[in-house]
Amino acid sequence: MGMKLDQGGHITHGLPFSFSGRAFKVVSYGVDPTTEILDYENIAQIAKKEKPKMIICGATAYSRIIDFKKFGEIAKSVGAYLMADISHISGLIVGGVHPSPFPHADFVMSTTHKTLRGPRGAIIICKKQYAKEIDRAVFPGLQGGPHDHQTAACAICFGEALDPEFKNYSRQIIKNAQALAKALQKLHFRIVSGGTDNHLMLVDLRSIKLTGKDAQLALEDVGIVCNKNTIPNDSQKPFIGSGIRIGTPALTTRAMKEKDMEIVAELISNTLNNIKPKNIIQKEVIKLCKKYPVD
Ligand SMILES: Cc1ncc(COP(=O)(O)O)c(C=O)c1O
Repeated sequence: MGMKLDQGGHITHGLPFSFSGRAFKVVSYGVDPTTEILDYENIAQIAKKEKPKMIICGATAYSRIIDFKKFGEIAKSVGAYLMADISHISGLIVGGVHPSPFPHADFVMSTTHKTLRGPRGAIIICKKQYAKEIDRAVFPGLQGGPHDHQTAACAICFGEALDPEFKNYSRQIIKNAQALAKALQKLHFRIVSGGTDNHLMLVDLRSIKLTGKDAQLALEDVGIVCNKNTIPNDSQKPFIGSGIRIGTPALTTRAMKEKDMEIVAELISNTLNNIKPKNIIQKEVIKLCKKYPVD
């Protein structure tokens, strides 16, 4: 049982086109249609009815706190395993700005290249009693030889995450995301669920009659990278989408702060609302990036 794609879940949480949807019988849950926030009562009801063997919590396009404790209670009440996919928020959890899935989940997995700011890679953490089976499922179940260069890069990433400075970084990611969401709202964009508690936000573009795909391309053209995304209960297909997903970790790494988010919001609005010519916005994007180089 996993979060549905158009509600913020990931492809690997049971989409029919992914191996997860082919190999397993999957039921989905989602967000409350009004608040666009996870509806735990409804999740508990679905779990009670469907009796899943495993519940997956964690998302790819969800801007609110995930209550792992509640998920743990729901899983326990129906005798299901709980797997937390913290790919997006692992850096925020390490930084102490998002609640932890421990000890509520039986399995916790994460990619290492999102808020954790490491190389492309992944980790699985589990309770001791499952360790042998998980290891065997990875090798020889799914993988061949180790990628030692990547393991070394992960070690560097974990070392950086242990540095006290990483806590400041995580805090600033959220401050920036909240400032950016506010600035976009001031410019009349609707933010799904009304704001953000984490590193990302979903911008609903229906009011300006632009699809997520067109918005992504227009922004890429001026040097702003984000991705098209479905919004809850979207009428568009996932590869078109009615929204875009924007995150602040990369801007925060460049040392941008809340004030800069107002500039970023304006650049986005000027592009999507055709307020300024493209070549002017391109120059403004370059100017902002030059002010905050990646050291
Ligand atoms: C929640 C979640 N799980 C898993 C993944 C898979 O990551 P990858 O694309 O590296 O396989 C992603 C990536 O977007 C994700 O958002």
